[in-house]
Amino acid sequence: MFDLNNQGQKLYQKALKLIPGGTQLLSKRPEMFLPEQWPSYYSKCKGVEVWDLEGNRYIDMTICGVGACTLGYADFDVDRAVVEAIKSGNMCTLNVPEEIELAELLCEIHPWADMVRYARTGGEAMTIAIRIARAAMGKEKILFCGYHGWHDWYLSANLANDKALDGQLLPGLKPAGVPRGLKKTSIPFRYNNLEEFKNLISKYNKKISAVVMEPVRNYWPEKNFLEGIRQITKEKDIPLIFDEVTSCLRMTSGGIHLKVGIEPDIAVFAKALGNGYPMAAIIGKSKFMNAAQKTFISSTYWTDKIGPAAALATLKKHKKYNVSSHLIFIGSLVQEGWRKLAKKYELDIEITGIPPLSHWEIKTKDSQLTHTLIVKRMLEKGFLTSKAFYSTYAHTEEHVNSYLKTLDNVLRELIPYIKEGTINKLYQGTIAHTGFRRLI
Ligand SMILES: Cc1ncc(COP(=O)(O)O)c(C=O)c1O
Repeated sequence: MFDLNNQGQKLYQKALKLIPGGTQLLSKRPEMFLPEQWPSYYSKCKGVEVWDLEGNRYIDMTICGVGACTLGYADFDVDRAVVEAIKSGNMCTLNVPEEIELAELLCEIHPWADMVRYARTGGEAMTIAIRIARAAMGKEKILFCGYHGWHDWYLSANLANDKALDGQLLPGLKPAGVPRGLKKTSIPFRYNNLEEFKNLISKYNKKISAVVMEPVRNYWPEKNFLEGIRQITKEKDIPLIFDEVTSCLRMTSGGIHLKVGIEPDIAVFAKALGNGYPMAAIIGKSKFMNAAQKTFISSTYWTDKIGPAAALATLKKHKKYNVSSHLIFIGSLVQEGWRKLAKKYELDIEITGIPPLSHWEIKTKDSQLTHTLIVKRMLEKGFLTSKAFYSTYAHTEEHVNSYLKTLDNVLRELIPYIKEGTINKLYQGTIAHTGFRRLI
């Protein structure tokens, strides 16, 4: 079934000539998984199943729509709401009443928030939040931690010093095309480093418009880290913006900040909010959100019906079935499975991430080569895999068991070579890329 000359790869070679970078999203580039061999394109997906262009079926045990589909692919209830939206007309001169129902629901789930604006993607929604904060505060500087998208305000951090984003989620991003005038307007700090944050607050004191961060990503906050940030931003009256583009709808049916018990001034949701349909929300305290009126934030397709209809259906289903507890359960099973396999084969591995956004890495000198080969073997056996696993409501214990059993068989074959340091005997192809550095 698995063909190295697959149609997807042929199409990708064509794409590389027509589309700079081949795809619109780094995380969907085949080089990130299995260069020259990844199926690359799908003809259909449903639940956790994916069919490539030849009709081969895979179980998705990797990033499941880059984290967009916590309910699984083509969820019946969300699709039904979207089909209804399409039937009643997706775009109109008049506005979409679902926007108000969604705003009420988001503020009910997050009682600290009073107002909501909408966008359709994570990076643009973050840019709106930054604009609102700057308009509210009338200052330029942003202190941030982690990855927040491709926009100028964020990439400008690398103008000052191209090491500035090191230690952040995606180091190595190049700021070509970003005006040099933005130099030193966005300043990074590291997660779980309150001292560094305090120093930056002292240094830029009266010039800061916002503090921007994911409340939780690869690691849980250390004691007093988020509390410290919240206390300082409150004292200084600096808006604290939580980027929940990826963390929303994983540990709760809302933001992950509900779990850690720290309330921001603005929070941003995207990705999973529409379960695969573009939808993003910026929620916040009216004290800051009203500043959206002091500036100009406006776009035609932020008003379509599909987005709010999909988000309402997603949130309601998520709450009704307590989807996050399933995501945690499935993610924990996978993490536990990796741990057991590591023990069985005496492998040094590192596991990071909350259970619904799990990552693992084998710690050898040939780690990336080993993972590339694992992806290849797993693909041959019908699984889409990588070093990341994002759980969905459509994953069952059976999927996890069959994935772990297959991974066990693959590791059994590879382990002598891993131990001898001769894994290159089994794979001479191109090694999967690890981040931005190799691709831009
Ligand atoms: C924390 C965070 N912020 C922002 C973004 C950008 O979102 P999008 O890719 O929808 O523009 C991402 C995407 O992965 C993210 O994880």
